[in-house]
Amino acid sequence: MLIRYKKNIEKIAMGLLSFMPTVKDVKTLQQIIKEYDTNPNWHLHLWKAEDDMIGVIGLQVDDDRLEAGIQHVAVSPSHRNQGIGKKMIAEINQQYHNYHIWAEAEIDDFYNKCCDDVD
Ligand SMILES: CC(C)(COP(=O)(O)OP(=O)(O)OC[C@H]1O[C@@H](n2cnc3c(N)ncnc32)[C@H](O)[C@@H]1OP(=O)(O)O)[C@@H](O)C(=O)NCCC(=O)NCCS
Repeated sequence: MLIRYKKNIEKIAMGLLSFMPTVKDVKTLQQIIKEYDTNPNWHLHLWKAEDDMIGVIGLQVDDDRLEAGIQHVAVSPSHRNQGIGKKMIAEINQQYHNYHIWAEAEIDDFYNKCCDDVD
């Protein structure tokens, strides 16, 4: 189940975001989480399985243009290859179905793979 990020799960969210290859240091990670905390156009969601948060997906949303760009996706290493990433993409496609959804370059192959499997 995807849940919307709240400040009280900041540390868990940061731990999951740190698996992104583009997040190379703590300073970058802090800047990213601050943006998700404060910028209303930056939407962060976590995947909850039973009591654990095991995945994260973050978007930058433009409500005027109806565009949503996926900029972060990560699943905890011990839960990979079990379809969690694909389920997160499917829920995002549902939640933002009015939007044109696109993905940052490093996520594009994964995003397309998940969408192709659905078609
Ligand atoms: C990429 C990531 C989110 C995938 O999560 P996951 O839960 O393991 O993915 P799924 O099990 O849902 O995989 C769905 C399909 O996508 C494929 N896939 C996985 N990673 C992929 C990638 N980087 N590019 C293209 N396809 C990928 C899987 O092989 C699987 O294919 P299959 O259905 O034919 O077996 C996860 O490996 C991760 O957290 N990586 C580190 C973070 C990262 O690199 N993020 C940027 C790239 S998205």
